[in-house]
Amino acid sequence: MHFSQMSWLLALLMGTITNASDILGVDLVFPRNETYAPTEWFPIVFAFQNPERARYLNLALGHTIWNLDDTNNSHTFLHDLRWTNWTGEDPFYAYQYFGFLKDEGRWRVRWTLDWQSCDEDSFGDNPSDAKIISNSSTWSTWFTLQSSAPKVDLVAATANKTCPGEYGMTINVTDKTMQVPRGVTWSGGDYTNRTCAVVASSAPTPTSDPCQVHIDKTIVASMEASLHTQLCNGLNPPSDCADDKNNAAQQLAVGGISCMLAAAGALGLFLV
Ligand SMILES: *[C@@H]1O[C@H](CO)[C@@H](O)[C@H](O)[C@H]1NC(C)=O
Ligand SMILES: *[C@@H]1O[C@H](CO)[C@@H](O)[C@H](O)[C@H]1NC(C)=O
Ligand SMILES: *[C@@H]1O[C@H](CO)[C@@H](O)[C@H](O)[C@H]1NC(C)=O
Ligand SMILES: *[C@@H]1O[C@H](CO)[C@@H](O)[C@H](O)[C@H]1NC(C)=O
Ligand SMILES: *[C@@H]1O[C@H](CO)[C@@H](O)[C@H](O)[C@H]1NC(C)=O
Ligand SMILES: *[C@@H]1O[C@H](CO)[C@@H](O)[C@H](O)[C@H]1NC(C)=O
Ligand SMILES: *[C@@H]1O[C@H](CO)[C@@H](O)[C@H](O)[C@H]1NC(C)=O
Repeated sequence: MHFSQMSWLLALLMGTITNASDILGVDLVFPRNETYAPTEWFPIVFAFQNPERARYLNLALGHTIWNLDDTNNSHTFLHDLRWTNWTGEDPFYAYQYFGFLKDEGRWRVRWTLDWQSCDEDSFGDNPSDAKIISNSSTWSTWFTLQSSAPKVDLVAATANKTCPGEYGMTINVTDKTMQVPRGVTWSGGDYTNRTCAVVASSAPTPTSDPCQVHIDKTIVASMEASLHTQLCNGLNPPSDCADDKNNAAQQLAVGGISCMLAAAGALGLFLV
């Protein structure tokens, strides 16, 4: 192959990669629209693909799970993503195990992602008109718990190359970031050094591919380890907890989680 051909090919490849990396994908990877055996701790797992694109979006991710036969039986949870290291692992997983899915039944998960971006046009001219664009997107999935069904297995559930149904969304986040003008009030600014990202308004929105996310054994092990830590710091710790309850970092982490639960309960944001 000639050098020119090679560099052309390289440029093509790099172009493809750059394009793909514009796209932040947010997917519910578990559960899917399927039937599982009830379990003591049931995971709800979201994956962020190209997570570095989420860095300046001040994402908020929350979900409500409710029983289709008893709609009063519902639970809301808000992920605290403010301090996430978005430039670390790809995909980045946001997950939580729940202890109320121990019985047979039909359930619905409804999740909402909120994000904010620069209003490029308003930033330039008259600072008094400057504002942040707020967007939000809501999705739902249904699942069934039945004793005769296969046990929850995150590796098997995400092993397939294809999966039917819609479980996720994408945001086309450009390379362009801007400093939020002084007059603009933006809570997200505290976590981004007042930097926002410009989101492309390109249509059609690229479709997301949650089936690209394959949870492996290592990921499951680390999820289970963090569940274990949470339980050990809880009210009824299991018997196999290490004797390190004074570990300040653990206490901090659990403090954060209970605050979050309190906030979610108090606001009831996703119940309406
Ligand atoms: C879920 O799966 C069932 C059976 O496979 C199907 O009948 C139903 O339409 C699906 N529901 C959704 C919302 O995808
Ligand atoms: C749900 O709660 C409402 C008000 O608390 C009550 O009137 C209703 O009977 C409850 N429904 C079920 C199915 O328990
Ligand atoms: C985020 O994670 C990456 C990869 O693990 C690491 O190199 C980087 O230092 C981390 N950044 C912060 C701010 O912790
Ligand atoms: C985001 O919000 C802006 C302004 O409110 C709106 O024009 C735009 O269509 C929204 N984009 C999406 C993807 O919802
Ligand atoms: C994976 O795909 C195969 C073939 O399409 C199907 O038989 C199997 O049930 C799928 N597994 C899961 C966990 O979706
Ligand atoms: C935050 O942004 C300001 C203004 O652009 C810059 O001077 C400062 O160094 C930034 N701080 C950090 C921690 O990035
Ligand atoms: C994302 O937006 C940019 C800027 O509008 C555009 O050039 C690019 O093609 C978009 N990417 C996709 C995959 O739609």
